[in-house]
Amino acid sequence: MGEIVFTEKQEALVKESWEILKQDIPRYSLHFFSQILEIAPAAKDMFSFLRDTDEVPHNNPKLKAHAVKVFKMTCETAIQLREKGKVAVPDTTLQYLGSVHLKSGVLDPHFEVVKEALVRTLKEGLGEKYNEEVEGAWSQAYDHLALAIKAEMKQEN
Ligand code: HEM
Repeated sequence: MGEIVFTEKQEALVKESWEILKQDIPRYSLHFFSQILEIAPAAKDMFSFLRDTDEVPHNNPKLKAHAVKVFKMTCETAIQLREKGKVAVPDTTLQYLGSVHLKSGVLDPHFEVVKEALVRTLKEGLGEKYNEEVEGAWSQAYDHLALAIKAEMKQEN
């Protein structure tokens, strides 16, 4: 794959918006998961912490951890894309991500669901600061990270 062009401006937009969302993890992680379940109700049973409940649990450490991981790793990917023109997640991390998701029954289309939930959460958190440029920067970084995870899942399959 050729070098990816990810600008300083895009990197800054991703970093700035993550700084905003980071200030209220309980709220935004809840919003993120509510969106995932609204878009794909059947995704619920894949998550250990959602399996036995009817509602998205408040202040659940595992739920918060997954939400934070998705946002934080996408932000880190944005930095790598700008600095190196490619995703630079360590192999061991990618292997771990590949196997966790494969074991949990995650399929390729689920990554689109999570991306849409991420975008909606950004909209909610950023308010007036949200725009298409912000969405584009996050989407681009997320897509590259998701591609790397999906490739790893295929290798392990
Ligand atoms: C677990 C990251 C996308 C479903 C995990 C874990 C990480 C992670 C690090 C290990 C547990 C943890 O530390 O919280 C990511 C990243 C993603 C992504 C960076 C995208 C860029 C998805 C998608 C789905 C999904 C698309 C399905 C809708 C799960 C499930 C688990 C998991 C079911 C097991 C959690 C449990 O039951 O406790 N993910 N994930 N993830 N992920 Fe993801």
